[in-house]
Amino acid sequence: MQRPKTNIVGLYDPETPMAIEFRRLYSRLQYKQNGKPNSPLLITSASHGEGKTTTAGFLALTIARQSDKRVLLVDFDLHRPRIHTLFGIPLRDGASELIQGVATLESVVKDSGNPNVSVLTAGTMVRSPASLFEPESIKRVIGQMSAAYDLVIIDSPPLLPVSDTMVLAPLAEAVLFIVMAGKTPRDVVSRGRGLLEDVNANLVGVVLNNSRGVLPYYYNYKYYGY
Ligand SMILES: Nc1ncnc2c1ncn2[C@@H]1O[C@H](COP(=O)(O)OP(=O)(O)OP(=O)(O)O)[C@@H](O)[C@H]1O
Ligand SMILES: [Mg+2]
Repeated sequence: MQRPKTNIVGLYDPETPMAIEFRRLYSRLQYKQNGKPNSPLLITSASHGEGKTTTAGFLALTIARQSDKRVLLVDFDLHRPRIHTLFGIPLRDGASELIQGVATLESVVKDSGNPNVSVLTAGTMVRSPASLFEPESIKRVIGQMSAAYDLVIIDSPPLLPVSDTMVLAPLAEAVLFIVMAGKTPRDVVSRGRGLLEDVNANLVGVVLNNSRGVLPYYYNYKYYGY
């Protein structure tokens, strides 16, 4: 299997304030679930560029370090896939092939560079990603992932521009909602949360990124539980 050249595994430093915030987030997530497995865990937001992918990547590495869980990090943002760039691995052969039934999970999962974290990239780009988000197929592939890994973390597209996440949310055991402070208008944030409520998603918390806006961003992860 191809080894990534540069990726966030090498950048992850357990001593940074960011890593401390992610450990805090992980312990709060465990606490919230009252011992129930919080998998699959879906990461989403109302609009673009709120830090979903960054959060998903660092959370996966944090959990791998804190526990002996085998984590699968999934890029289900087939519109603007980015998990592969975080880990320096190829985009092709991933979620789109799996959903279309032309590849098995085992054949498309890639190494992250951390032995406890495997990655399912978004796969070969398709013209109409939304057409792949048919509830029965998504349920089938999520079932396969859950059977093979202790924890499945799913990165997803934003709720307002596309409907894919509305299919994913009710299939997730827990949903983490990301908000980039100072960027997304309040009514957009509430509309996103409203959409999650519409599908009875289990919203377990909100991560507020860049909350002070003046310090480097790695100081600025904040977690608010419900
Ligand atoms: N806590 C943070 N504070 C400030 N900037 C951040 C933070 N987290 C991520 N960023 C930056 O914000 C940008 C968007 O991050 P990211 O790609 O993780 O967001 P996203 O929600 O996945 O975006 P998209 O909706 O396009 O998929 C990146 O440049 C990233 O480095
Ligand atoms: Mg993203």
